[in-house]
Amino acid sequence: MEQQAPKKRIFSGIQPTGNLTLGNYIGALRNFGLLQNEYDCLYSIVDMHAITVRQDPAELRKACLRTMSIFLACGLDPEKNIIYFQSQVPQHAELAWILNCFTYMGELNRMTQFKDKSAKHADNINAGLFTYPVLMAADILLYLTDLVPIGADQKQHLELARDIALRFNAVYGDVFTVPEGYFPKVGARIMSLQDPTRKMSKSDPDECYIAIIDPPDVIRRKLRRAVTDCEATVRFEPETRPGVANLMSILSALSGKSMDQIEADFEGKGYGQFKDAVADCVIAALEPIQKEYDRINKDKAYLESVMVSGRERAQSIAYRTMLKVRKKVGLAALKL
Ligand code: AMP
Ligand code: TRP
Repeated sequence: MEQQAPKKRIFSGIQPTGNLTLGNYIGALRNFGLLQNEYDCLYSIVDMHAITVRQDPAELRKACLRTMSIFLACGLDPEKNIIYFQSQVPQHAELAWILNCFTYMGELNRMTQFKDKSAKHADNINAGLFTYPVLMAADILLYLTDLVPIGADQKQHLELARDIALRFNAVYGDVFTVPEGYFPKVGARIMSLQDPTRKMSKSDPDECYIAIIDPPDVIRRKLRRAVTDCEATVRFEPETRPGVANLMSILSALSGKSMDQIEADFEGKGYGQFKDAVADCVIAALEPIQKEYDRINKDKAYLESVMVSGRERAQSIAYRTMLKVRKKVGLAALKL
């Protein structure tokens, strides 16, 4: 019988906030559903990364469950994908410590996210914020990951993870897979509704983004208030008219229509009508997801079962990697 090549492994970490955006959906989440047959995928809700800034404990717990519910609602099959909470697989922390000893202060000092975050949280520049990228490297390397879907802002961290893997391998032989970024060809970059030259991001003020779980009236209001220009024609000119181009990208991504088609559809019509059509389309696209989300988020027993099976499957991979890593660096064996 013909042997099947093993599937490549994908790992991604997601910060637990309930505010995953339409940008996350179009640029990432909805494509994850397509990856699940071709790749061996792990999605970790990175609660340990989240506590590098102060969190309200009850709110953090809820936010983690909300994030898991959104993933499931977007069509990720918990049988085909491993979906779990980072802190429930203690090997992440264990490997992060070991990798700390293979990372230089100078490398971490260069990380732009650390610089940004320490400016933002000047009263709490803790060591965890500084070593955040090492924990992220541990996340990725623990599963011998081939591909990591990330946004541009995380490229520097991935680069560091690769450097750490190469450095470790140079000393101990081929222990870690050296991961690569995964940048799907399809999927538009969705921009902020208030400043369409910047990426739509959940860390911006509320009116800049559409959350996957925003109610229909909120979605419509935000889109009506989206920044455009004074030309009042629906034309795709991203350089000079980024606001309209962004709304067209959203409409195109969700309806499958080309820019030419959209231009033709709105010939002679004003922005009011156009924005309403975009709102109708976004609301219709998110409605089934929101329904599923409401159902799943209430079903605590189901969420618990996904959580437990996710962490057990993740742990069994992590355990094997750690057996090898511990042996290589000379730590006492820890057999279960
Ligand atoms: P982030 O929320 O920045 O951590 O990104 C998580 C994933 O969502 C990455 O794969 C990004 O490429 C994708 N993503 C985030 N924001 C957007 C956006 N505005 N447009 C398209 N994709 C996005
Ligand atoms: N740092 C990532 C972010 O802020 C989240 C993350 C943590 C991650 N661990 C990861 C992403 C591993 C990819 C792989 O978005």
